[in-house]
Order: sequence, then C-alpha cells, then structure tokens
Amino acid sequence: MLNQENTYEVEIFDPTKRSWEDIKEQIISIEHEAFGDKSFSDEDLSNDFQNVNNVVVLLKDSNNILGFVYAEPANKEETALICDIVIEKKSRQKHLAGILMDSLEEELKKRKYKYIEMDAAVANNFAENISKQYKSRIVEQGEPHDSIWGKQVFFRIKL
Ligand SMILES: CC(C)(COP(=O)(O)OP(=O)(O)OC[C@H]1O[C@@H](n2cnc3c(N)ncnc32)[C@H](O)[C@@H]1OP(=O)(O)O)[C@@H](O)C(=O)NCCC(=O)NCCS
Repeated sequence: MLNQENTYEVEIFDPTKRSWEDIKEQIISIEHEAFGDKSFSDEDLSNDFQNVNNVVVLLKDSNNILGFVYAEPANKEETALICDIVIEKKSRQKHLAGILMDSLEEELKKRKYKYIEMDAAVANNFAENISKQYKSRIVEQGEPHDSIWGKQVFFRIKL
C-alpha cells in the first residue's frame, strides 16, 4: 500500500521459513516501547511467534518492522483471540492499525475462523476505533474493565 511518503507491506510471519532470530530484536523493542515493564516477556513472544497455530502479521516499510499483531486459537470453536497489537510510536496515527487488522482478518478467514475476540485498550482511542470500525460485525461488547495495561473493552467480532 502506498501513501505520500512510504510504501508499507505486510508479511504473515511463517516460522518454518523465517527465523524468529531475524526479527526478535525489532519485535521486542516495539513491544517494550509500548508497554515498558508490562510487556510480554521475551520468552512468551518467542513462543507465541514460533507457534504455527498462531497467526502473526508484521507491518514493514522498506527497511524496518513498524508494528505487528498476532492471534491464537481461543478456547471457543472457530474463534481466534488477538493477543497483541502494537505500532511503534513514531508510526502511529497514520491508519496503520487498520492495515494490520485487515491482513490478520484475511489470514484468519483462510484458516476457517469465524470470530475474533480481543480486549482493546481504551487508551489511544483504540477501543472506540474498534467499536466504530466493526460496528455491524460486533456480536458482543463488554464494559470497560481494569487490566495491568489499563482499561480495556472486550469485543467479539464476526469475521
Ligand atoms: C493501538 C495502536 C496499535 C493503534 O494504532 P494507531 O497508529 O494509534 O492508530 P491508527 O491511526 O492506525 O488508527 C486510527 C484510525 O484508523 C481507523 N481504522 C481503520 N480500520 C481499523 C481497524 N481495523 N482497527 C482499528 N482502527 C481502524 C480508526 O477508525 C481510526 O480512524 P480515525 O483516525 O479517522 O478516527 C497504537 O496506538 C499502539 O501501538 N498503542 C500501544 C499498544 C497498545 O495499546 N495496543 C493495544 C493493546 S489492546
């Protein structure tokens, strides 16, 4: 996708073809910039990114990874749980979250999922944007609840 300054591309990360070692520094740095001491541990990220049952999407420009999103199979049938979505600070508010989410959804549909679930942060208007963006497809929306990452809103969305 092209915008005025940058060309962005997405990659469905395939741990059988590309090594976690290639990307781990950038992923961990983006995670830590966003969440500080509330970040997922390096070990959790390593396990989650290399789990072939998970769907991991990377957003890149020509040189760097700018953000990522990943989902894992939930305990409910045909449902994927979005575990983490992050865009590096300097690339935020450029509508890149939508690019990541669209690619994730496309891949999840290929894998026959019917629903996604997520706890979306109230911060940065993310929960509000999800509510706006997925309006017609939201089948369940919770009230804001506390978490170690601040207030979040639960969503179940039809793919
Ligand atoms: C949450 C986060 C990824 C959002 O990215 P962002 O760059 O701030 O937001 P974007 O500019 O991409 O998205 C905002 C716009 O895209 C739109 N959009 C389009 N498709 C969208 C989609 N599928 N999902 C969300 N927003 C979408 C929104 O409606 C919004 O439009 P508006 O500006 O006209 O209101 C980013 O703020 C971040 O990394 N935060 C820190 C980590 C974090 O809190 N992650 C969430 C954990 S639940």
